[in-house]
Amino acid sequence: MSDLSQQSIDSIVSQALAAFAAARTTAELKAARLAHLGDKAAIILANKSLGSLPKAERKEAGQRIGAARAQLNQALAAREAELAEAELAQALRDERIDVTLPVATSPQGAPHPITALMDLVSDAFVAMGWEIAEGPECEGEWLNFDALNIGQSHPARATSDTLFVEPLDNHLLLRTHTSPVQIRTLLDRPLPVYVICPGKTYRADEFDATHVPVFHQFEGLAVDKGITLANLRGTLDAFAQAMFGAEIRTRMRPHYFPFTEPSAEVDLQCFVCHGESVGDPERPCRTCKSEGWIEWGGCGVVNPRVLAACGIDTEVYSGFAFGMGVERTLMFRNNAADMRDMVEGDVRFSRSLVGTAR
Ligand code: PHE
Repeated sequence: MSDLSQQSIDSIVSQALAAFAAARTTAELKAARLAHLGDKAAIILANKSLGSLPKAERKEAGQRIGAARAQLNQALAAREAELAEAELAQALRDERIDVTLPVATSPQGAPHPITALMDLVSDAFVAMGWEIAEGPECEGEWLNFDALNIGQSHPARATSDTLFVEPLDNHLLLRTHTSPVQIRTLLDRPLPVYVICPGKTYRADEFDATHVPVFHQFEGLAVDKGITLANLRGTLDAFAQAMFGAEIRTRMRPHYFPFTEPSAEVDLQCFVCHGESVGDPERPCRTCKSEGWIEWGGCGVVNPRVLAACGIDTEVYSGFAFGMGVERTLMFRNNAADMRDMVEGDVRFSRSLVGTAR
């Protein structure tokens, strides 16, 4: 580099300025900076060549080059700021989100009220220290009937109620109640036992507003030393209150089940008329048919023959058991009038009960 005249420096400067101005992106500007202010750029080389000038010329040439470099640095910084601002503005335009646009909604599901209610029942018992028990839906005939003291001639065994699984000599059926889990529990678990078993049950029933062939029950079983009917009564009251609120009243009515002795049906005081429709023809109640009470489920003191069938010493141990329909409980608790809604799988039904079934 020998020509450090004002003219030559001006030409270097104007080329560099033109290149900076022509850069349309920060990447292009970076390339222009390397070309015109980098180590091999004309102005930098000119600066380096100052040393070889005669001393008399050096000062003036040095000032020219210094001024030129300052001008270029300034122009570069200004263009950098300009491009950065333009790029930011562009990004803001490109990435703009219109929060007022309608969102693509995929319909939300909801836990089925039967499932939610079974969870709630389980939670109520787990809170009292009970355990959850389970058994298969396709069950052995002996566990569903014989072990529960339901003899060969018992009407509950008739094929009209029970769905047997072919071939019949396998003696398998779809369990008609959750009570076989009582037997499984007593055969499997060490005493004492306090278990609750929610699950599916099957009967060859008509499909109408109050019957479905596939339904749900929860079975309770407590076997310990010194268990009496009083423990059953207290447990059912605590449970009814957990389900229906502190105001609920229950009663036990003598009944018969082969696997409990004594046996009872447990009723809830009608949650619509609270018993006030009884004997008052002016105010009939459709819910309880003016009886004041509605049937909730069966219960009783475990028949010693059941305990004995499971090899338990009936001199030492006794127990109680109960079984209720989940669908019935849901009807009472959540005012679900028609059982068919519970099997049709319409999410609007589930959603309408979310929050109330929990
Ligand atoms: N298993 C009986 C039913 O399905 C209910 C029940 C369970 C009764 C436990 C007594 C004890 O009707």
